[in-house]
Amino acid sequence: MTNATKYNARVTGVGMYVPDEVLDNDYFAKYLDTNDEWIVTRTGIKERRILRNGATSDLATGALKDLMATTGLNPEEIDVIIVATVTPDMLFPATAALVQERVGATNAWGFDLSAACSGFLFALQTGANFIASGAYKKVVVIGADKMSAIVDYTDRNTCILFGDAAGAFLLEPTEDKSTGILDSILHIDGSGADYLNMKGGGSLNPPTHETVDAKMHYIYQEGKAVYKRAVLGMAEVSAEIMEKNGLKSEDVAWLAPHQANLRIIDSTANRMGIGMDKVMLNIERYGNTTSGTIPTVITEYYRAGKVKKGDNIILAAFGAGFTWGSMWLKWSID
Ligand code: UT7
Repeated sequence: MTNATKYNARVTGVGMYVPDEVLDNDYFAKYLDTNDEWIVTRTGIKERRILRNGATSDLATGALKDLMATTGLNPEEIDVIIVATVTPDMLFPATAALVQERVGATNAWGFDLSAACSGFLFALQTGANFIASGAYKKVVVIGADKMSAIVDYTDRNTCILFGDAAGAFLLEPTEDKSTGILDSILHIDGSGADYLNMKGGGSLNPPTHETVDAKMHYIYQEGKAVYKRAVLGMAEVSAEIMEKNGLKSEDVAWLAPHQANLRIIDSTANRMGIGMDKVMLNIERYGNTTSGTIPTVITEYYRAGKVKKGDNIILAAFGAGFTWGSMWLKWSID
């Protein structure tokens, strides 16, 4: 969507948090019929981080505290906190409420947003709309997931894929309409619900001994079916946002893709006509952290001095729902 209001939302600060404990591929090879070579070739993942004790609010709070420490943001100035997650601490209250309390954001309101691996993208656009409305000056958008809480560590199809992480962006208004979040194309299609889901724990299948025995409180994924749709969805929507805005491949400084599978990312870069040297990656170290992938990878590249003011970054994601989309972000911090 394009916005025709007075303000654009620009990213004025970033932060991230990953837990210390590392599970490498050999960890799984010790008790499952899998190996480092299969995992690296099929996914690009070498290791992932696990939060042994704690919840998603701890990851989210860690990312927001990192953002506050590096920007000097005073928690009382925060107007809105949006937490994108599929692993909230509890079904309610919202994880955003727990984060608000932990950081002392006494003047904020907020909520959680559920869009799986596209969660951060959807939350960023939602936050941008609050800024564009002129009603809010400081919106914090967090992508946080403790995937280890819903992974079946006896299922080799899924357990090797996921990890825990969180990233946080601060959005503020600018009257410069040529910078910040410039456009996005977002989609949701519930016909994909059967292929990637967690069936238990909600109102459809409230928890019972039977739902636990049937492993309904774990991620269920039909990998091949999701893979096919993800390749198509992420590649098409990334090319589409470039065409829509007249961006040529040489205009794109970075692709910041959701990190689910290196082969999906490679196809997306290919379709956009850009080399892998322009693709932000941290899948090798963290695996798929659901809504944590995009904010952590951008934070790492920015902090490594690789992202410059004025850079055109294309964000792209695909996940459960299905949900998918792309965003054109012009970087506006030195
Ligand atoms: O982030 C949200 C969206 N999710 C995604 O984008 C994930 C999309 N899907 C994928 O990334 C891939 O489908 C996977 C990485 C999950 C799987 O890769 P694949 O190339 O599609 O493999 P597959 O599921 O077709 O499995 C091929 C074989 C099977 O064995 P058979 O039936 O051919 O004998 C699997 O049982 O590989 C087997 N396999 C494994 N072997 C060793 C599955 N997992 C493993 C494993 N180690 N961990």
